[in-house]
Amino acid sequence: MKQDRGFPPAPVVFPGDEPFWEAARSGELQARHCSACDTPHYYPRMHCPFCGSREMSWRKLSGRGTIYSYSIVERSPRPVAPVIIELEEGLRVHSVILDSDVRALNIGDPVTLRFVPAQDGPPVPAFTTTCAEAARAYTQAARAEVEAQALRSQRVFRRAVVIGAGNMGAGIAMALLAGGLSVHLIDQAEASHAAAIGRIGESLGRDVERQRLAPAERDARLARLTSGQEMAEIANADVVIEAVWEDLALKQQLFAQIDRYAPPGALLATNTSTLDINLIAAATQRPDSVVGLHFFNPANVMRLIEVIRTSSTSIEALDAARSLAASIGKFAIVVGVCDGFVGNRMMIARERQAARLLLEGALPDQIDRVQRNLGLPMGTFELQDMAGGIELTFRARQKAGKKDWLIEQLHARGRTGQRAGRGYYRYEPGKRRPLVDPEVTALIEEASRVEGIERRAISDEEVHDRLVLLMINEGAKLLAEGIVGRASDIDLVWQLGYGWPDWKGGPMYYADMLGLQSIVTKLTALRAHHGDLFRPAELLVQLAEASERISNVRTLR
Ligand code: 3HC
Repeated sequence: MKQDRGFPPAPVVFPGDEPFWEAARSGELQARHCSACDTPHYYPRMHCPFCGSREMSWRKLSGRGTIYSYSIVERSPRPVAPVIIELEEGLRVHSVILDSDVRALNIGDPVTLRFVPAQDGPPVPAFTTTCAEAARAYTQAARAEVEAQALRSQRVFRRAVVIGAGNMGAGIAMALLAGGLSVHLIDQAEASHAAAIGRIGESLGRDVERQRLAPAERDARLARLTSGQEMAEIANADVVIEAVWEDLALKQQLFAQIDRYAPPGALLATNTSTLDINLIAAATQRPDSVVGLHFFNPANVMRLIEVIRTSSTSIEALDAARSLAASIGKFAIVVGVCDGFVGNRMMIARERQAARLLLEGALPDQIDRVQRNLGLPMGTFELQDMAGGIELTFRARQKAGKKDWLIEQLHARGRTGQRAGRGYYRYEPGKRRPLVDPEVTALIEEASRVEGIERRAISDEEVHDRLVLLMINEGAKLLAEGIVGRASDIDLVWQLGYGWPDWKGGPMYYADMLGLQSIVTKLTALRAHHGDLFRPAELLVQLAEASERISNVRTLR
């Protein structure tokens, strides 16, 4: 998992504590043991706090214990609870519980040791709950399965062409460069591909400043990056990834051209997030070589690629796509064609419900806080501000001829998201921190009036249930429809594409933690108030009746 900058800091090594930190490097927790009074202690002292003797040795501890007391740091970038742990050996140690559901802790809960990589120096001891450990083990098994599938093809990719130098195209180019490929960016507008090259250079520069990247590696990546307007450049490509605006006719026209120039055997991919890739593949003479490679924003950071299999994609092309993903350090989750595929279909269900909650009385910061409390790095409105969601929804509504007063007002005021400095939130110049904006609050209240909806206080629990249970329900439908073959793949999509924490497994694993019967009951109650959208999926009902777990479901091998 990616580490937060500056946390945890390098440990302070007191004189005489060197053996402790040496053992920590191999994941072992040690305490001093007084030979005179036969008592262990965990203080950075050269003498025994009980009898004063200096005759001490280091002994290994089990690393298992229970919570004696805890508090919660609310303003931490990730869940953290300073704790006192009572270890099996009887001594109490000050430590922290990290990356576990700190809001669900109880005195007496069992915990186990977990060393966390520090900024510099040896790893630092922290503790975790048994629930979080179980979720991590589930995650590891799911990832191992995906990694094993990536080994089926030994295909080597050296040269990529990315078409479309917007935000996604530039992010995809960065991901490919980081994986050692040469990348040629094509965009019809010279200004766009030149700007993309500039943005990539700046981002790599920031990585060098933050000491995440060696200057020589930055230079090597930039030396492998070229750009231009000519489609003929495709002639040398091992893989072509199209990332232009979501317009079927435009993509079909591009794929006909790609087909003309691409060498035999090249993998032809679209980064569409919504369109029917069967129709895009049909524009070529080699639909078997066409796949969807759906990257997640920011494409250079998120470790997921949804590989979309059309009705004609060959096994070779699928395996090649898996191999490409692995070679750039990403996980390929193979899914079928449907509107939004797996991740976005669930996300859009959540977004629509979140928009409804705004009209009924909630505000963006409440809705986002409830989602961050789950351990997600961002809530739905922060995410939309980052990924240009207001512009996308505005265009989608226009295309469908649907009215959406709030979206139209936000759009008309230039509130298109973080890049514009304002969206659902406002942003200080050059900063990414979302700030509540009274203008948006007033617009939302007005939107309720326009829609004739009386605003009411909405509890955090209602926000959670209406967003998260809906996502779980959608996940169950995706499994039943065969769009995705394993429930654990849905969980990986959410972990790797949206930052759902590995210590919470993913939405399907979380569903099992909540209990399927309780979910079905809640969905049924929500349906009575809010309509058929909340009708429990057949699969959920069947599994609940059979007392089975949804995270175990797999329909494909
Ligand atoms: N806006 C844009 N880019 C951002 C960003 C933001 N708010 N935050 C981070 N980034 C990008 C930048 O490239 C940044 O590098 P830079 O600072 O040199 O420009 C890089 O990520 C790394 O930034 P940080 O080290 O600061 O990363 P953080 O620890 O702050 O994490 C995050 C940032 C990775 C964006 C994290 O908050 C996260 O995982 N958020 C969830 C993202 C998500 O849900 N993505 C899915 C979107 S839906 C989608 O992609 C569907 C598709 O169809 C479009």
